[in-house]
Amino acid sequence: MSLPNGPKTPPLLLLLRWIADPLSILQAGAQQYGDCFMLDFGRYAPFVFFSHPEAIEQVFALGYEEVQVGSSNSILRPTLGDHSLLLLDGDRHQRQRQLLMPSFHGERMRAYGALIQQVTEQEIQTWTADQVFTLRPAMQRISLQVIIEAIFGVQDSDRAQALQQRTADLLHLTTSPLGFASAFFPILQRDLGRWSPGGKFLYLKQQVDELIYAEIRDGRSHLDPNRSDVLSLMMAAVDEQGQGMTDVELRDELMTLLLAGHETTATALSWALYWIYQNPALVQQLRDELAQPSEGDRLSLMRLPLLNAVCMETLRIYPVAFIAGPRFSQQPTSIMGRTFPANTLLTPCIYLAHRRPELYPDPETFRPERFLDRQFSAFEFLPFGGGNRRCIGSAFALFEMKQVLATILSHCDLAIAEPQPVRPVRRGVTIAPKTGIRARLMTSQNKGTYISTPMPNTVPSKLTE
Ligand code: HEM
Repeated sequence: MSLPNGPKTPPLLLLLRWIADPLSILQAGAQQYGDCFMLDFGRYAPFVFFSHPEAIEQVFALGYEEVQVGSSNSILRPTLGDHSLLLLDGDRHQRQRQLLMPSFHGERMRAYGALIQQVTEQEIQTWTADQVFTLRPAMQRISLQVIIEAIFGVQDSDRAQALQQRTADLLHLTTSPLGFASAFFPILQRDLGRWSPGGKFLYLKQQVDELIYAEIRDGRSHLDPNRSDVLSLMMAAVDEQGQGMTDVELRDELMTLLLAGHETTATALSWALYWIYQNPALVQQLRDELAQPSEGDRLSLMRLPLLNAVCMETLRIYPVAFIAGPRFSQQPTSIMGRTFPANTLLTPCIYLAHRRPELYPDPETFRPERFLDRQFSAFEFLPFGGGNRRCIGSAFALFEMKQVLATILSHCDLAIAEPQPVRPVRRGVTIAPKTGIRARLMTSQNKGTYISTPMPNTVPSKLTE
């Protein structure tokens, strides 16, 4: 029983580098130590990273008795609360998942197609021709409005607007470099007045909480069996003892869905537009494909092979979640014939798994065809993690991505207004484009003239060195 090798960097320095630039550490670790290596940040259990599909399959297969995930997500506790799905384990975790999953799949999910299209069109109308704007905040406005309506239904539109604004502010704070660093350094979490990071966080969280609790109060006072939004569903649910969820439980779950359910999709959409609009031939091919299905047929949109391949390749090359939730081993655990001690954070590394050259030749190049040419297993391609913690919003996210991309492609010519290739950087627990990706809405006169030299469809060299 032993731990694998890893860099000998002093733990605090390694932690600071992990906070500032996690992808470089992962890449260097894989180059030096191969498929499995350790990062020891001192104050936590050691992290062991896996990128081999067989190892990932075995980690995903571990059950509640063998590993816990809730406890290793504890940096999310101050924002999400104790009852968040992301922080639960065992029976409670399983029950909550079963309750929430249906809302983001099948018929319920498809009912949001018209809403997504409408919200996207409204956003497009705010873009001014010939002016440079930033894609990521634009995509976030779309995905936040969509998730708010999916969760709460449309009740009080003033409140929905306030919730949208406050949630964006809270997220901006918690994903900023200082905000994220404060999760590791309790001193930064102290409330030293409204302008200190800790004070500002508590203030914004309280504002979001008040709006969520107001929705819960309204929902409880007008229980309507015909409503199918997520809040109504959660309020109607009872456990074996006939107990429903408390207000605090409801709040934590709603906050989880609100945050997990839009930030990731907004980032994925921004990258997708970045890759698509750099390649005029791809824009044309996608438009030709979109011209095929009958008007308004949202289901067939889901089946378009090239649109699907573009979404997959976007999620491969820069997976928004660069690691799956670390699995905290409760006992010695064997993975690919090697036994790791208890209290180890067994972590499938999505970013490295997606860069294995034997699976993805020329992995640093955006090449959607690879998803047309072959199928990848759930352990070779895993943007949504896996096992009993697999993302509950994966189908919803893909559905939303395709709706939004189809709507933008059919209305807009964009030029990516970035002089250099854009790098991914840490944004909280995810990675996102460093600049947010600037783009320009083209009018017919200046179509295609903004970028003087076409950019390569490969990742910036800093990440491949
Ligand atoms: C492109 C968009 C998205 C990506 C890349 C993504 C990725 C992930 C990943 C990697 C995990 C961890 C899985 C694991 O540890 O094995 C996860 C968990 C989760 N995601 Fe997503 N997600 C996305 C969109 C969404 C959406 C739209 C929702 C809600 C509607 C959502 C809700 C959740 C929740 C609640 C969990 C925790 C599941 C659990 O612990 O059981 N995600 N997601």
